[in-house]
Amino acid sequence: QQQPLIAPSILSADFARLGEQIHAVEGHGDARADWVHVDVMDGHFVPNLTLGLPVVTSLLRVTDLPLDCHLMIEDPDRWAPGYAEAGAYNVTVHVEAAHDPVMIAKNLHAAGAKAGLSVKPDTPLEDHLDTLKHYDTLLVMSVEPGFGGQSFIPEVLDKVRTARRLVDTGHLKVLVEIDGGINADTIEQAAEAGVDCFVAGSAVYGAQDPAEAVAALRAQARR
Ligand code: DX5
Ligand code: ZN
Repeated sequence: QQQPLIAPSILSADFARLGEQIHAVEGHGDARADWVHVDVMDGHFVPNLTLGLPVVTSLLRVTDLPLDCHLMIEDPDRWAPGYAEAGAYNVTVHVEAAHDPVMIAKNLHAAGAKAGLSVKPDTPLEDHLDTLKHYDTLLVMSVEPGFGGQSFIPEVLDKVRTARRLVDTGHLKVLVEIDGGINADTIEQAAEAGVDCFVAGSAVYGAQDPAEAVAALRAQARR
């Protein structure tokens, strides 16, 4: 896949019309989303509750776009493999919640999915580099997980730069993904810091034309 990747988050979509809202970003060329980002929240790891495996299973039936499932849940060790078995493309767990993150990555790979590791804004990368080697994506949270429409925390870009450096020097092999507050005002600084994949919720689904928003974000991320 060609970078930059754009992953609209359906957290900001109309939950009564999730299928249609995904179809809205299934266009062609730059307007086609690369992945659809699905925020799974359990009301415990984060103070919000969204959707789970039954909804993901239904969404997999209505789209060819790869589903990027971001699990903001406790005990991902128990629940993450189910998303991989259902057919999710990438399953991301939080390092703060995982009991045995290396085992989770192995289980996800065994079930045919890619594995993602996410860090909250205040979680340092350094302590988790050995774990990260087992993962395909690193999801750097640029807001406190839980809600869409929050303001971008620029301090997390240091983590992005560190990860970029480690990837470029061959010490790490992950796609660097950012999530939270990505919009026309913030995407360029994230791109400059070295992000490969940009999650955007309100910037895509708050726009008149979600596909146009995807294309516009991609153009900005390219510069
Ligand atoms: C927040 C979620 C994000 C959210 C981003 O906890 O992980 O994926 O949808 O929304 P925006 O892009 O509006 O900040
Ligand atoms: Zn997310």
